[in-house]
Amino acid sequence: MENKIFYPNKEISKNALIKNMCEYQDLMDEAKEDYEGFWDRFAKEKIDWFEPYTKVLDESNAPFYKWFIDGKLNVTYQCLDRHLNKRKNKAAIIWEGELGEKRVLTYLDLYYEVNKTANLLKNQFGIKKGDRVVIYMPMIPEAAIAMLACARIGAIHSVVFGGFSAEALRDRIIDAEAKLIITADGAFRRGKPYLLKPVVDEALKEGCECVEKVLVVERNQEEINYEEGRDYLYNELIKTESKYCEPEIMDSEDPLFLLYTSGSTGKPKGVQHSQAGYILWAQMTMEWVFDLKENDTYWCTADIGWITGHTYIVYGPLAAGATTIMYEGVPVYPDAGRWWRMIEEHKVNQFYTAPTAIRLLHKAGEKEPLKYDLSSLRVLGTVGEPINPDAWMWYYETIGGGKCPIVDTWWQTETGGHMISPLPGATPIKPGSATFPLPGIMAEIIDTKGNPTPKGEKGYLCITKPWPSMIRTIWNAPERFKKSYFSTCTKDGKPVYFSGDGAMYDEDGYIFITGRVDDVINVSGHRIGTAEIESVIGHHPNVAEVAVVGKPHEIKGESIFAYIVLKGEDTKAEEMQMVQEINEMLVKDIGAIAKCDEIKFVPGLPKTRSGKIMRRILRAIAKGEEIKQDTSTLEDPTIVQKIQSCML
Ligand code: WTA
Repeated sequence: MENKIFYPNKEISKNALIKNMCEYQDLMDEAKEDYEGFWDRFAKEKIDWFEPYTKVLDESNAPFYKWFIDGKLNVTYQCLDRHLNKRKNKAAIIWEGELGEKRVLTYLDLYYEVNKTANLLKNQFGIKKGDRVVIYMPMIPEAAIAMLACARIGAIHSVVFGGFSAEALRDRIIDAEAKLIITADGAFRRGKPYLLKPVVDEALKEGCECVEKVLVVERNQEEINYEEGRDYLYNELIKTESKYCEPEIMDSEDPLFLLYTSGSTGKPKGVQHSQAGYILWAQMTMEWVFDLKENDTYWCTADIGWITGHTYIVYGPLAAGATTIMYEGVPVYPDAGRWWRMIEEHKVNQFYTAPTAIRLLHKAGEKEPLKYDLSSLRVLGTVGEPINPDAWMWYYETIGGGKCPIVDTWWQTETGGHMISPLPGATPIKPGSATFPLPGIMAEIIDTKGNPTPKGEKGYLCITKPWPSMIRTIWNAPERFKKSYFSTCTKDGKPVYFSGDGAMYDEDGYIFITGRVDDVINVSGHRIGTAEIESVIGHHPNVAEVAVVGKPHEIKGESIFAYIVLKGEDTKAEEMQMVQEINEMLVKDIGAIAKCDEIKFVPGLPKTRSGKIMRRILRAIAKGEEIKQDTSTLEDPTIVQKIQSCML
């Protein structure tokens, strides 16, 4: 099945920006022959500069690359002001609440709301260029407005996913030294209200002296606590603000936002993105990969708290002048037909979601989509994890009616935008393959010395040339930035960006992503470092040792599997109690996404004589696989069998 090829739909090709593989190749060749010239052409064509740049790329301080040197712009000008001529009455954001409420903001409405909010931040709270603002919000238009308002005045936003706990939120507030938190009272999930403001209150109890004010958007009118002098109601303050705020003149390389993501070691890292390079690639990929047309209605189901929500709900669609749908709730409320009903109702043309959601909806309601008219769909997308051919085929046949190309987009928080993806009008697609690098992106599968990996063999997925929307640094941790991304692989003797993913070329040169090669697991498309989970579990007083691995899971992609060695003897009753306590700790310290799916209590962990835990063995045991590896070099060669007997 993996090798079945689906050719582009001729109707799409005819009107696509990139119509066939020859045009794709021409663009690739153009980039290879004159890399800076290629980017110069698009930067000039796409961006409304306040002042032109003087140089395309500065590599003098690699890997701290700089793009579009001395250029001046404002990202909100690119996303809003410049559309007012042609699109002021076009829907920018169509929002649907979980309970079915609808709001439409035209480009003009959104422009006013962003300007007013920008004025509020500037005038009433004294937020200035470079200040950090944490946004902890549900999926409501004000989340996008808050992000853009920060960008308008040059403040750096750090959106924290609404599912993170108070402790996780606190860590991110402190690391970024945020001055202001923008949040909401709460929102609706699975038909019930849930609260966000109390989580902020809890987070601010310790160590957050940097925070001066909290701005609360009213969404679900639940009773919440207001702290005099610190907490302010957005809905009141916004009333008096004026509709125009001069856009701050930003340098190409000024930070636009931070977004925290998990790595294989230590605490989450604040991935720092730039202004010009980021918005350029957000817009270009939006246009190329989704085959965007003026009257399209585009829907990405991600949460604003992840990079997909940043680039493909807010910045990319708005820079491209698109209509973007924002949905507040879960896919299965009130039933597993919710999303398909929304596609019918809004006549959605591009639909972009995660494989985990596709698997869930496939399982929860295979026949649901048949009740709805999905014929408006033209392009389907996936992101976040490899998609299994079964789920791919259901998506292709049942959702897309066999006529919509699936763009399986590989990228990361760090890459800012799509890196490897089919082009809907050009690329023949194969289920499970992200296909080829996008024009201008030098993605290669290599060994640590930069040699290309032979077809059919796994290698390291690297990007061997800097690209405009790349991560600039890790906030407050430039050395960690170098070590995390530029210390594993080199090409021609120069360090190159290593993604942390393994990948493989098939016999036709198609790229198949095989998953993380580091200790990061991907649960329902969310990146979680095993080290983060281990560090929480390790704090339990009865835990002597812990190792966490990912285990393949039918819906989530991967599930969290923990091996725990207890201090002293244990009983079955104690173990059950501990499972509960450990999961409570994980929910408290990280959030519900970090709960363990399985916890096994074992007498020891497989270690080398130098004390290194052999995770490969633990992964194999979790999967129930036979251990093929030589275990005689382990510190205790009998441990494997002992652990296996605990699995029964
Ligand atoms: C994984 C999400 C296979 C990968 C945009 C990557 C994928 C991590 C795909 C980044 C895909 C993302 N096929 N795997 N199409 N897209 N991944 O930072 O392991 O939340 O490194 O960004 O998701 O996750 P992040």
